Amino acid sequence: MSSIELKPTDRRLKGDLSVPGDKSISHRSVIFSALAEGTSVITNFLTGEDCLRTVEAFRLMGVNIEQEGNKITVHGKGISHLSEPSQPINFGNSGTTARLMSGVLAGLPLFTTVYGDESLSKRPMDRVIQPLRMMGAEIHGREGDSLLPLAFRGKKLAGTRHELTVKSAQVKSALLLAGLLAEGETEVIELGETRNHTEMLLPEFGVDLHVEGRSIKIRGGQKPSASNIKVPGDISSAAFFLVAASIVPGSELVIRDVGLNPTRDGIVKALIDMGANIEVQVHTHIGSEPVGDIVVRHSRLNGMTLEGELIPNVIDEIPILALAATQAEGETIIKDAEELRYKETDRIEAVVETLSKLGADIQAREDGMVIQGGTPLNGGTIDSYGDHRIGMMGAIASLICDKEVIVKNKECINISYPSFFEDLNQVLN
Ligand code: S3P
Repeated sequence: MSSIELKPTDRRLKGDLSVPGDKSISHRSVIFSALAEGTSVITNFLTGEDCLRTVEAFRLMGVNIEQEGNKITVHGKGISHLSEPSQPINFGNSGTTARLMSGVLAGLPLFTTVYGDESLSKRPMDRVIQPLRMMGAEIHGREGDSLLPLAFRGKKLAGTRHELTVKSAQVKSALLLAGLLAEGETEVIELGETRNHTEMLLPEFGVDLHVEGRSIKIRGGQKPSASNIKVPGDISSAAFFLVAASIVPGSELVIRDVGLNPTRDGIVKALIDMGANIEVQVHTHIGSEPVGDIVVRHSRLNGMTLEGELIPNVIDEIPILALAATQAEGETIIKDAEELRYKETDRIEAVVETLSKLGADIQAREDGMVIQGGTPLNGGTIDSYGDHRIGMMGAIASLICDKEVIVKNKECINISYPSFFEDLNQVLN
């Protein structure tokens, strides 16, 4: 485990930046390409550890996948040519791999076992296992079949109607993938809106879906065809720089080619609601995903209440938003966000502990947190707890601390943003 020491600085964020490819879209691109017949080329693929776990899973199932920098070439042979892995598949820290691949592995005529790291082994899998069982899946795991490691005796599944009880894009996507492999039609009815990359991207691979309000229907037995995908920049990675430039006086930054899917841009909306100086310009679409540039300048922020329908849209950005709230005027309340407790760490506890150590006035609630703004931060030693987003939040906090910040266990940042410190140094002037 390595640490990084971040000295107090009076540098500002200036210039232009492109953040790496979107994590959710990278996972989906490789999954859909590996199920397709033909060669798919994915550019600006996120080569973070999580997405490489998904690549490795398909390599173990006999798919030839070449990687050249952030370009991935997937030589798909079609669903019926995927082969039984001869060894357990390691999903590492990746919840997206674990949930989405469960939908795939449940519906293939193969026996597979999967495991993950300490954090992933604690994350709830029953949210996908229970509905997959309704389709006829045979899955076994620890603690009453709710935790990794898992064993799949894949089989022909039956199309089923699911009314989701959690707001989760991972669960929705797992069931749609199982539905693609099943016989008959599968319908997923969401509890609330979540990121819709699966629905946007599957048609790029020739798969028909019918989306109406909260219902998504997919016909089983469709054969995906190869496609070339350019992955937009990850708004969840851009979020660290949106907050950094908003809270560091004198900053002005342009973040280029960021994915601005309306089910993901809640961080921009939330910061603008807080008074941030942010301009967004959509300049193109990649497939159906809107992509644009974001200009952000330092500004005074106000506290706000973040709750309800907006929460799934900003769920991954709440740690960095909490840092912004420590610098805002007044109180910020984050509620309806109990899902944070099931992420790479319990992110309610991790955020509250980390920001408290740095001098923030922040209290945990069962479903969120309450932050009193306008608090100068001091510095100190903090731990990422192996959670990439907590590590990056700590590093961004150091830009406004008046003493050194040491971030322990920093290598987890490679999970979603391997070039994070290089990019940060590039824009600090
Ligand atoms: C993701 C969905 C979200 C998010 C995760 C990626 C996805 O999780 O937190 O980082 O790619 O579908 P949930 O669907 O569990 O909320």
